[in-house]
Amino acid sequence: MYTLEEVQEHNKTDDVWIVLHNKVYDITRYLEDHPGGSAILFEVAGTDATEAFEETGHSDEARKELEKYHIGDLPTEGRSKLSTFSRSFSRTTNGFD
Ligand code: HEM
Repeated sequence: MYTLEEVQEHNKTDDVWIVLHNKVYDITRYLEDHPGGSAILFEVAGTDATEAFEETGHSDEARKELEKYHIGDLPTEGRSKLSTFSRSFSRTTNGFD
């Protein structure tokens, strides 16, 4: 288990963690091998990169590769904070409340 705060500390060029779908990945060893380049990964280092990852429409191959770098998960508490935020945010912007 890692919190988002812990993930945020790993945002240096020789130490890069990201979050995808509430899972934590240490992609330091993958930076050089990423077909999309290392620059884009540095941009999201230490953050939840789920949106950027999904927007790119990564292949099944890419998703399999991902498993090699899985080191842990966000605790349920850290997750619900995030989704509570986005739920209330979209409710407000949609004007449903
Ligand atoms: C460990 C995490 C990741 C893995 C294993 C991975 C893997 C791959 C692979 C295998 C490709 C080649 C195309 C494909 O098979 O889909 C690719 C392309 C790409 N990736 Fe990732 N990726 C990761 C994270 C990310 C993230 C977080 C971003 C965005 C911030 C990103 C942006 C891109 C882009 C823009 C391309 C397209 C490159 C092109 O078509 O020229 N990737 N990635």
